Amino acid sequence: MAPLDVPAVSPAELLGADMARSEVEGFPEVSEVDVIRHFTRLSTWNYGVDTGLYPLGSCTMKYNARINEVVARLEGLASEHPYTPQTLAQGCLRILHETALCLQEITGMDAVSLQPAAGAQGELTGILMIRALLAGRGDPRKYILIPDSAHGTNPASVTISGYEVRPLKSNEQGCIDIVDLACAMDSEVAGLMLTNPNTLGIFETEISRITNIVHARGGLVYMDGANMNALVGVARPGDFGIDVMHLNLHKTFSTPHGGGGPGSGPVAVKEILEPYLPSPVVEKSADGRFQLNYDRPRSIGRVRAFLGNFGMAVRALAYILANGPEGLRQTTEDAVLAANYVRSRLRDSYELPYDQPCMHECVFSDRRQAEKGVRTMDIAKRLIDYGFHPYTTAFPLIVPGALMIEPTESASKRELDAFIDALEAIAQEVEEDPQFVLKAPYTTRVSRLDEVAAARKPILRWKPRSPANGS
Ligand SMILES: Cc1ncc(COP(=O)(O)O)c(C=O)c1O
Repeated sequence: MAPLDVPAVSPAELLGADMARSEVEGFPEVSEVDVIRHFTRLSTWNYGVDTGLYPLGSCTMKYNARINEVVARLEGLASEHPYTPQTLAQGCLRILHETALCLQEITGMDAVSLQPAAGAQGELTGILMIRALLAGRGDPRKYILIPDSAHGTNPASVTISGYEVRPLKSNEQGCIDIVDLACAMDSEVAGLMLTNPNTLGIFETEISRITNIVHARGGLVYMDGANMNALVGVARPGDFGIDVMHLNLHKTFSTPHGGGGPGSGPVAVKEILEPYLPSPVVEKSADGRFQLNYDRPRSIGRVRAFLGNFGMAVRALAYILANGPEGLRQTTEDAVLAANYVRSRLRDSYELPYDQPCMHECVFSDRRQAEKGVRTMDIAKRLIDYGFHPYTTAFPLIVPGALMIEPTESASKRELDAFIDALEAIAQEVEEDPQFVLKAPYTTRVSRLDEVAAARKPILRWKPRSPANGS
């Protein structure tokens, strides 16, 4: 470590003795240029949607247009304090109100809350509203039906809400079996929670019959709408009988996700559930002014501080207005076209367990490659050598050894062709030399990590180098 050329200040002097922690053993002392080089170097090791195709199924890694960021950084939006009096925050309240109205129109629902901070929190919020409604009727019920093609967060949300999951098996087309549903939907069942399109990328073609069966027996239907990028501008859940749903702004509406920013999982409801929405709600009064209404006795309460992740609403509204109705529909059509192009071109190389047109994503299985000892994770590792981010591996669980590919509308045909060529070449490599594929990747800085240890025992903290442990 180079000698300090500025006065040394201890944490206690800097922060006050009561704030300084004894286990902190000093800070790294490096020059500005070293810091810049360190972080710039790290940034070049990363792969993001701005570097290339990111076909991670179920994640909708579409391009986040820069106009969203420009708008979100406007002074007055970026720097507005959440405690600003309502009279001085009319513009921000209007943005929230208009975002909710747009989402209402897109989903065909009657009211929207932007409070939930992620898709899974939207799920929890929606199921708690169902619970509050049924409890108010004196008919609380015990179970929620969930098909085996649902997203993994669905059973978790149901369980946290105090319900028990009653699973439904999918039929050979990858859809809900109507006969099974009719048998399972009894007076103990509060409702059905389905992901549509489901995690196979398949639209529930019998959706109106499904919602009718549930309603006829006093239940409600929750739709996990995280895959709405397959429906926006084409079909509205409110029109096919959905009572409550959530959206993932960080998927469908091009706000950043992962490390790039907080999420947002608005919930949309039919009128019957409106009184239960999280409080407060943004309202527009007759004189055109916006206000927060806290006087909502049947509300399930707050689910998030302030009004949710405001910056995400700004970005989503920018995306919606920049595209307009025609653009949003075009986006959906392009996403579905891209997924079907991948599906039809790769079906000779990889097994397609549910062989029918898909929506926004397609799911193959590694069955043919597994005969040579190569599994979906090995193929994904080799794909990195071809310059692509891997697809989602081993999910959904109803497809053993799944390769789940979601190209999104952002991929050009040229990029899709290069991706398909890479996967075809890997299938050929598996035929000729499976051992070679099993040792991939060859072009990365690190090869196969211990992924469990990396997830469970991450070392995220800087520690001073000590001669004793040599670290
Ligand atoms: C279908 C589906 N449901 C729910 C979620 C959960 O959303 P979040 O990760 O924002 O909690 C996701 C996330 O990708 C999803 O794809």
